Amino acid sequence: MKRVLSGVKPTGKMTLGNYLGSFRNFSKFQDENDVFIFVADLHALTLPIDSKLLHSTTYDIISFYLASGLDPKKTTLFRQSDVYEVSVLDTILINYIYMGELSRMIQFKEKSKAMNQSKVGVGLFTYPVLMACDIFLYDTDLVPVGEDQNQHVELAHDIARRFNSRYKGEYIKLPTSYTPKVGKRIMSLSDPLHKMSKSDDPNQSKGVIYLQDDEKTIRKKIMSAVTDSDSIVKYDPVNKPGISNLLTIYSAFKNIEISQAEHEFNNSNYGTFKKAVADACLEELLPFKAKFEEYRKNEAYLNEIFASGAKKASKVAQPVLERIMKVVGLR
Ligand code: TYM
Repeated sequence: MKRVLSGVKPTGKMTLGNYLGSFRNFSKFQDENDVFIFVADLHALTLPIDSKLLHSTTYDIISFYLASGLDPKKTTLFRQSDVYEVSVLDTILINYIYMGELSRMIQFKEKSKAMNQSKVGVGLFTYPVLMACDIFLYDTDLVPVGEDQNQHVELAHDIARRFNSRYKGEYIKLPTSYTPKVGKRIMSLSDPLHKMSKSDDPNQSKGVIYLQDDEKTIRKKIMSAVTDSDSIVKYDPVNKPGISNLLTIYSAFKNIEISQAEHEFNNSNYGTFKKAVADACLEELLPFKAKFEEYRKNEAYLNEIFASGAKKASKVAQPVLERIMKVVGLR
């Protein structure tokens, strides 16, 4: 049985990218693996965030987890900040990672570039260290994430290897990432050369489908997605990034290969194709959103899940932290 672990940051409205790259992929692991899924609330602090928004989005994320089919009887669902061990491990392991390694992280480069350089928080720089600690603390084998997080999982793998070789033993489990075959990188509908991202301004962005958007808005955003001037539905991310992105979205929702989707729309015009993409998307998202609304109303139930998840997660985390403290000489 493998330990599978992943998390999502509660930083505002979740997108279709988050859904296809992560939420949707978690529940399939829970029957045959030991699955740990958490709300990465400490990571949400790495960029300035309103405290009320952080608090309420934490409840949104746990509701999305439940709506996606995660069953608290099978999966340990918890809140990152409830397990204090992660912060102790972070304080230890921050000394085993090099500045050069962290400076090379694409996410750091992109996020910090967009900011006033004198106001880039240290936590944004050390983000991958805390993420590695999340992974190590639960002896994780497999980490399901979207493509943009692969680099962080690879770094965690390198850190684990280095630590084990320094202390000559298998003290930290080596993790591997899992990305879905179709949907690991969903692009913006209005600017398909860029990733669909929740940090885009929700009031302005036509390119981002938010999971909380209503049916009409979702349809409108898909129907007005940027395409190109010919009329062939073909997967070619370099020359036809818009159409390729829509093909990816369609194939992901239909659980088919992209080539099969291409074949299906061989003779279709873009209007017909876009309508089919919107239908496929809504067929799955509408019931998902309805379940979300039900769970989201019941904060008492969500608090119970957090409380029991924290207990289960701490039970696994404590001995792992003890093991690492002992190895480095703190115990
Ligand atoms: P976050 O909240 O930024 O992203 C959550 C997940 O959504 C995926 N994702 C996408 N997938 C496909 N297309 C997109 N456009 C898209 N945008 C986002 C991300 O890859 C991610 O899987 N660092 C993590 C949170 C975290 C974590 C961990 C994950 C903290 N500790 C330990 C795994 C293990 C993150 O990026 O969250």
